[in-house]
Amino acid sequence: MQQTFTIAETWDLLDRARAEGLRIGLVPTMGFLHQGHASLIRASAAENDLTLTTIFVNPLQFAADEDLSDYPRDLERDFALCEQAGANIVLTPSVDEMYPLPILTEVAVNDLSSAMEGAQRPTHFAGVTTVVAKLFNIGGRCRAYFGEKDYQQLAIVRRMALDLNFPVEVIGCPIIREANGLAMSSRNTYLSPEEFDAAGVLNRSLKSAVALAEAGETDVEVVRRHIIDMIETESAVSSPDYVAIVDAATLQPIERMAGDVRIILAAQVGRPRLLDNIGVTLPA
Ligand code: PAF
Repeated sequence: MQQTFTIAETWDLLDRARAEGLRIGLVPTMGFLHQGHASLIRASAAENDLTLTTIFVNPLQFAADEDLSDYPRDLERDFALCEQAGANIVLTPSVDEMYPLPILTEVAVNDLSSAMEGAQRPTHFAGVTTVVAKLFNIGGRCRAYFGEKDYQQLAIVRRMALDLNFPVEVIGCPIIREANGLAMSSRNTYLSPEEFDAAGVLNRSLKSAVALAEAGETDVEVVRRHIIDMIETESAVSSPDYVAIVDAATLQPIERMAGDVRIILAAQVGRPRLLDNIGVTLPA
């Protein structure tokens, strides 16, 4: 496994690999890697000949009052995980390498970025899509792997790739969970042991909502209320910021529980806001 620090040296390695006919996989991350990231790297290593993992805590996607300065970092542990999971190149660019000048060009995906996380964090997705566009330009023609934990992000990145003709196939990978159902996230490190246990209610509430819908409940409001009521039984978990029940492909709110549905929520648990979601296919 090779570590690179600059875009130019990464391009050189990827140009050479492509000249040899190798297929490239890209796994963009912000580091402090966990088994969710490992599953993305493993998926890439299984489907491609060379996997580039990037580790970059992107300042553009943090609002002024968010945790940019103390976002968890542990590069040594990250490299070990990358190597074990099958990465071939790990790019760890500096902020100056990624943003040599104050950025004047932004990439924003309208509509899809405005609800859910976009409503809570109005500048977040433009920061994500701008850096992912840059990472796609570094990766070139490739497959790029993103976790379904950030379901809205995945949909936005997929649409950006389509709208702007990036030569990138965006691949979503299943959420990897802790034993209590909590979706793995670098920010779980902020949780106390009690909060960690309590946060299991997020996934339990989603699974219970799916069971309710599968048993025939078609009223979206009843399903949403069911989730909120369950979450509110855990005093360490605040009432959800949102519980969105949407069409899995378009992310548009639906009126009845039918077809390909995604239920997406976010709730504050102690310091971090945690995201989770679940998919279900119901009779039309
Ligand atoms: O999901 C993340 O870790 C980040 O939003 C990403 C896609 C690496 C962009 O910084």
